[in-house]
Amino acid sequence: MKRYGNIIGWGKYIPSRVITNADLEKTLDTSDEWIVTRTGIRERHIADNGENTSQMSIAAARAALEMAGVHPKDLDLIIIATSSPDYLTPPISSQVQHGLGAKNVGAFTLVTGCTGFVYALSTAQQFIASGACKTILVVGAELLSRFIDWNDRETCVLFGDGAGAVVIQATEVPSGVLSFVLGSDGSGGEHLILPAGGSAIPPSHKSLDAGLHSVKMNGREGFKFATRVLGKALRQVIQQAGLDTQDIDLFIPHQANIRIIESAARFANLPSEKVFVNIHKYGNTSAASIPIALCEAFEEGRAKIGDTLAFVAFGAGLTWAAAIVKVTENVKPTPKPLWQNLFTGWLSRDHHVKKEGRRPISANETLSEPEVENT
Ligand code: ACO
Repeated sequence: MKRYGNIIGWGKYIPSRVITNADLEKTLDTSDEWIVTRTGIRERHIADNGENTSQMSIAAARAALEMAGVHPKDLDLIIIATSSPDYLTPPISSQVQHGLGAKNVGAFTLVTGCTGFVYALSTAQQFIASGACKTILVVGAELLSRFIDWNDRETCVLFGDGAGAVVIQATEVPSGVLSFVLGSDGSGGEHLILPAGGSAIPPSHKSLDAGLHSVKMNGREGFKFATRVLGKALRQVIQQAGLDTQDIDLFIPHQANIRIIESAARFANLPSEKVFVNIHKYGNTSAASIPIALCEAFEEGRAKIGDTLAFVAFGAGLTWAAAIVKVTENVKPTPKPLWQNLFTGWLSRDHHVKKEGRRPISANETLSEPEVENT
């Protein structure tokens, strides 16, 4: 029986401090009119000095776990998508695992820029489909404001901070990621780069003086790339799911630029009422943008249980990623009659399995039997 990873809980954390375009006008050679017409952004939320990416991830994760009714210790895996972790090492995924009290749960960090959440969700789906995991936490979190030059009007007006999380759980009901498209073209890496701080240019007085510890972006190239890949990836992923555009209830794109979103929707023939936009409030929150938008789409009643959603993102790398995601009720399987449970229990006993000439069933393998239940 095929296993799917249904989204059973979602949550977000948005820092309370707001910086409006009018605020930026005071320190930069820019205007509200320029920012709104070129990007669609009106304001962004910026983390306070005391906040960091792991704390935002934990806050969003707690909200998602609470909604799902899942205790952190019952998770099988945690995946954190971010390009702005607290430290290069230790991995932020372990900090979040510890902070949540998810004792000994496996955790890893996935870094693919703004596409991180879609990559992470597609990855999580594979752990569910293979039978390796039953319940997984996926977080997209970003605190890019710490890596931005606030005197560079070409980048600082675009980005904001925040985190979004989902809990996915195994079910036999077709749901979760029905299809996905993941792409990468490293030849365009220099178009969005944080040059120093890694092994190529380790931190030094020289790198600091040269301003190499903040994001450098070629906006025009990013724009051209996004309009080239997004609509195409969207069409491809809809086709791969065996669906038509009209089967998509809501398109939840990465919120980077309203003109890019509109162009992708046009290319895939999606009418504006099927497109979710919240860029005006948050700017580009990179890997956090789609999970935050997903939460808001549900909060506003734009997305509903039973809907088929299309996610599509582009970002540093350069990378792109799209997924068709169906959200269903967390359906309980029909309970087996008591005699059948007893019979199955007896069958799986080691001595009986050996007698039949088969190997004993290990603890891990028992996970490959779908165990679907409401938590
Ligand atoms: N305020 C006022 N003027 C500005 C600002 C600003 N904040 N920023 C740039 N300008 C100026 C430029 O200097 C330029 O002036 P010039 O004509 O005298 O040279 C003019 O505005 C037009 O600049 P463009 O770059 O042509 O403006 P464009 O319409 O392309 O919009 C933008 C710029 C918003 C950055 C757009 O290109 C964009 O959104 N790109 C994608 C960015 C993105 O999403 N990046 C994230 C991931 S992927 C990647 O970037 C590789």
